Amino acid sequence: MKIISSEYIKSAVLPSQFIEDNLYKMALAGRSNVGKSSFINSLVNRRKLAHTSSSPGKTQTANYYLINNSFYLVDLPGYGYAKRDKTTRASFGKLIETYLLNFRPQAVMLLIDSRHEPTQNDKVMYEWLLYHFYTPYILLTKTDKISKNQMSKSLKTAKEYFSDAPHPPILYSAQTGQGKQEVLDLLQHLTETDNLTP
Ligand code: GTP
Ligand code: MG
Repeated sequence: MKIISSEYIKSAVLPSQFIEDNLYKMALAGRSNVGKSSFINSLVNRRKLAHTSSSPGKTQTANYYLINNSFYLVDLPGYGYAKRDKTTRASFGKLIETYLLNFRPQAVMLLIDSRHEPTQNDKVMYEWLLYHFYTPYILLTKTDKISKNQMSKSLKTAKEYFSDAPHPPILYSAQTGQGKQEVLDLLQHLTETDNLTP
């Protein structure tokens, strides 16, 4: 797939604000600071389409990005950021839950920091997704920060943890572009297949 256009459409918090059209949607889940928003920017070659920050908790709403006028990437708030106050954290969880349970995007991509073992929250999120009939695609982020050796290790660990995933984990770097072609190929496949279903 070639990215021809990318456009911010809207942000949603309340149920009435989520988009309910028939276009394919892939939601991005993962802990705060793992690189969800950076993933979008790097994939579509735009530095500032989605807002990013070195301090966790930047994305606080569900943000819709329309790609090639044919599908959406939905950037979600992160989970597991300890410093944010409890009420705000609970409402983030609520937003993710409301969205994923009631608006059912066709796919979920779960982003995991390639530098570390999956956290307890990552595992909870993964199990929660499976329980609700999502088999997430796994993206191992920030691979520019680790060695080739660590990449193989990270890949192996992720394969073990996320053994129900429909596709092998993808090593990704928003900085070097590693994994970008693999994601574009995957999206091409997914959006084409989905368009064929009546
Ligand atoms: P929340 O919105 O808080 O949930 O975070 P997020 O998952 O959207 O993370 P974001 O994209 O804002 O990135 C967090 C920090 O990690 C930023 O400082 C990014 O520049 C950095 N970052 C993201 N991806 C990469 C990557 O592939 N390589 C490197 N070196 N840094 C990255
Ligand atoms: Mg973000």
